Amino acid sequence: MIKINKCVIPAAGIGSRMLPITKVIPKEILPLVNIPVIYYGVEEAKKSGVNDLIFITSPDKTPVIDFFDYSPLQEKYRELLEKYSKMVRIISIRQSFPKGLGDAINRAADIIDDDYFFVILPDDVIMAKEPVLGQMKNAFDDREGIYLSLMEVPEQDVSKYGIVSGELISEKVIRIDNLIEKPSVEEAPSRYAVIGRYILSKKIFNELSKTKPGKKGEIQLTDAIKALIGKIPVYGYVFDGERYDTGNVAGYVKANIRFSIENGEIKTDILNFMKEMLRKFSN
Ligand code: G1P
Repeated sequence: MIKINKCVIPAAGIGSRMLPITKVIPKEILPLVNIPVIYYGVEEAKKSGVNDLIFITSPDKTPVIDFFDYSPLQEKYRELLEKYSKMVRIISIRQSFPKGLGDAINRAADIIDDDYFFVILPDDVIMAKEPVLGQMKNAFDDREGIYLSLMEVPEQDVSKYGIVSGELISEKVIRIDNLIEKPSVEEAPSRYAVIGRYILSKKIFNELSKTKPGKKGEIQLTDAIKALIGKIPVYGYVFDGERYDTGNVAGYVKANIRFSIENGEIKTDILNFMKEMLRKFSN
């Protein structure tokens, strides 16, 4: 069985959909209740067997790395923080120019020596019984290749995502034959959207180095993956789990509500408050 030891976590985006707060606080450090968004990605990587995390950061993102350092704070949080600081080995690489997700991933080329590695886009927080990377790794163990996590989205949302087409080869796995970054409704080959969990081959780095700027003038990861179709198998995996896009205001607020219900200390208070709000505002 192939072991996947490294996970790349791009955290270099400027967070324009979350302005103005992201002018001073990186979006990855915004809290879901009292735990920052980035924690959930790191926890998922750890639970999926990863030892090394490679953060791709940009100027002003220092808090994203700092969070995982031990700090002798209040007794109440000591155990939790010890857990964070001992979780994984963190390697931080700078993306000095915002050239897109594909370019951010390409910054990790010198660090990745294994054939395969994971990628987590930390804005996509996914609540799942089994971590999504773990679900994908199980499929990978049956059929080696690149894997993209997939979720069906409503037609009007296809232009927010990378959209795939292909043949369903088992209950959850699609063999991908086409991939388009942020297509129009007319162009979209399906409603299966790529969500921020990937198993990539190190062959991606060669493609990324050749990839020209695409949508939004950025070097797109999807364009480099598309170039590998036909050279190595590329699969989509329709995961089980609830996904929240914490990179936009509505998604971020929904994630906070959802995570507050997971927190035993405040659950009842928040549910009662929500009932009161529904009585007051629904007609
Ligand atoms: C990125 C990817 C896109 C993917 C999405 C998932 O887009 O480029 O293919 O569907 O993440 O969240 P972004 O949201 O950074 O614009």
